[in-house]
Amino acid sequence: MRLTREEESILAGESGDGRRKAMELIVALGRIYGAERLVPISSAHLSGASYKTIGDGGLKYLSDLAASGSKVSVPSTLNPVGMDRDRWREMRISEGFAEKQLEIIDLYGRMGVRTTCSCTPYLGANVPRFGDHVAWAESSALSFVNSFIGARTNREGGPGALAAAIVGRTASYGLHLDENRRPTVVVEAETDGTAFGYSMLGQAVGSAIGGGVPYFKGISPGADDAKTLCAAMAASGSVALYHVEGVTPEAARFSEGLDGLESIHIGERELEEARGRLNTADDVQLIALGCPHLSAKEVRDIAAFLKGKKKARRDVEVWFCTSSEVRDACREEVRVLEAFGPVLADTCMVVAPIEGSFQRTGTNSAKAGNYLPTLCSQKTVCRDISGLMEIVT
Ligand code: F3S
Repeated sequence: MRLTREEESILAGESGDGRRKAMELIVALGRIYGAERLVPISSAHLSGASYKTIGDGGLKYLSDLAASGSKVSVPSTLNPVGMDRDRWREMRISEGFAEKQLEIIDLYGRMGVRTTCSCTPYLGANVPRFGDHVAWAESSALSFVNSFIGARTNREGGPGALAAAIVGRTASYGLHLDENRRPTVVVEAETDGTAFGYSMLGQAVGSAIGGGVPYFKGISPGADDAKTLCAAMAASGSVALYHVEGVTPEAARFSEGLDGLESIHIGERELEEARGRLNTADDVQLIALGCPHLSAKEVRDIAAFLKGKKKARRDVEVWFCTSSEVRDACREEVRVLEAFGPVLADTCMVVAPIEGSFQRTGTNSAKAGNYLPTLCSQKTVCRDISGLMEIVT
């Protein structure tokens, strides 16, 4: 791999131990994946922020890194953590967990990371431009910026994204290169056009193809639809980039030359099967909306839907998960939602330690439907928002 003089000097430790270690990791990844060079990045988005998922080992790693004076050198945002940093008592979080979680947030902040704690930074806090090279972790978010914005990132893990943020570069391989952004399969898709429909479509496609770069025909997702489609395909498969004919910014480049590709059709039967796999319970103790985090439009839509309704079941908790920016921007709508349950920022139903309090959770998200059983020991009910809210009204 060819390194510039500046990159060689970082690798030699001339700008500190923290930057040297970060560069070693980036170079090692580049060698494994056959990169010829590094590429400057314009931003990073970091995962590995919940104490539930990184534990004491991760906390120690971050402590050592912060103690070495390491700082990010590009705008960097942070994924959800294990609790709302202000309202964690309402989530039944223990004092011990809260103390460690707040320490993790503080360590990221000391390294210069914007502690936004949301998985939808592309809606405001961190918006790449078309063609930007970036290093993003969080499978739903990186798929959104690859596909819907046309930025370029691989499916980074937490440590790789943090190392890239520190040195301001990543190894140039995978989805940073033109040739790997070509479609690998054509998907003729049907959906009812709702965000829930797009989530089930993502579930069906991810299950059918696993990985690769799907090229969709026959759909027209808006931003909220795309975010749920991204999340679902990244969870049921490992899709990090897709194109939609007439919608996503790179699709036109590939509209010729699709003829030789495998083609699949996703219709009513496949969508029903996808939904069936995500329903493993008959009733719930918790209904959690906002995977990925609710946008301002979604908060407004839910408020309009709930206005005038009453929560009838006290035995079922309802959580709405969003970013602090959206919560602050939608105060009136948030009041409507709060009649049903807390509007939580910084966290979500998957990275919070809900397994200590609940065993059956309702979700409208295929991504949560995939992860709640494996990461939170939950049985799930997966329905659209009105179907879920029927349970409690
Ligand atoms: Fe976001 Fe948590 Fe879902 S990080 S995409 S709300 S699992």
